[in-house]
Amino acid sequence: MYKILKAENPAENIYLMDVEAPRVARHCEPGQFVIVKMDEKGERIPLTICDYDREAGTITIVFQTVGASTKKMAELKTGDSFSDFVGPLGCASELIDEDLDSLKKKRILFVAGGVGTAPVYPQVKWLHERGVAADVIVGAKNKDLLILEEEMKAVAGNLYITTDDGSYQRKGMVTEVIKDLVQNEGKVYDVCIAIGPMIMMKFVSLLTKELNIPTVVSMNPIMVDGTGMCGACRLMVGSEVKFACVDGPEFDGHLVDFDQAMKRQQQYKTEEGRALLKLQEGDTHHGGCGNCN
Ligand code: NAD
Ligand code: FES
Repeated sequence: MYKILKAENPAENIYLMDVEAPRVARHCEPGQFVIVKMDEKGERIPLTICDYDREAGTITIVFQTVGASTKKMAELKTGDSFSDFVGPLGCASELIDEDLDSLKKKRILFVAGGVGTAPVYPQVKWLHERGVAADVIVGAKNKDLLILEEEMKAVAGNLYITTDDGSYQRKGMVTEVIKDLVQNEGKVYDVCIAIGPMIMMKFVSLLTKELNIPTVVSMNPIMVDGTGMCGACRLMVGSEVKFACVDGPEFDGHLVDFDQAMKRQQQYKTEEGRALLKLQEGDTHHGGCGNCN
């Protein structure tokens, strides 16, 4: 069992938990995810790691209530436990394999949308701990839905906050801030890492393509079981079929076919849609576990 050491509700429908999982905490890297299960029969829920403390043996997860399982999960309190907490899964962010000297010269921009702020945080923190200061844009619908502001402020080079309704700091979507920084403030970036809702990652990628900024996105939102077996997270990256949970979750945002991924995500929700996808995609419908070719 994996004990919940802290359970908070930082914003409406958004929950943060510190979970005792020493083995995951020892081995995880920024960009990876875990799969949690509340009990034996519970749904498998893939969640990107928000923070980890190797010494304390804890993992921080942040989730939004979207369906029955996450609503049930939100009722868990400090002292309760998860029956399963599997990880770390997926590939770590490519940044962590780069040579530190060249990383220090890189002008890095993170774009975090809503709950996507949680998976951005460990990457910015990892860089900060190694002396790399990255710019971070955080977008939220309104002030009340903004999360991890203080935490992000402590590790970002520059933090730009924007709200859709202008209730806090800048007004407008994250794409407006990117344009403003690059076109009006003369900022130059070598790479952009955008994590948030699919629609945000699509429009950030379209914009950064125009601005010639290589962009990485995290396709966690299309995952279902996180094992490579269900076929839910199949997507096209350039001309290649990929699976977010096995090959990702991070991909080149300029190559991801977001329209196809979003359409497929809708189709996958119904039994009829899944049957049709299985028929159309044949042997490439699911990705296997990633270890069996
Ligand atoms: P949201 O809808 O509140 O959007 C967050 C911000 O994204 C907005 O404030 C805006 O700045 C930007 N945005 C939204 N639509 C945009 C558009 N059309 N163009 C430009 N910018 C746009 O976000 P939310 O409700 O917190 O997000 C929930 C989603 O985030 C879920 O779908 C979840 O799956 C996803 N999510 C993704 C990851 C990941 O790894 N990619 C991780 C956690 C959550
Ligand atoms: Fe099921 Fe990736 S989430 S195959």
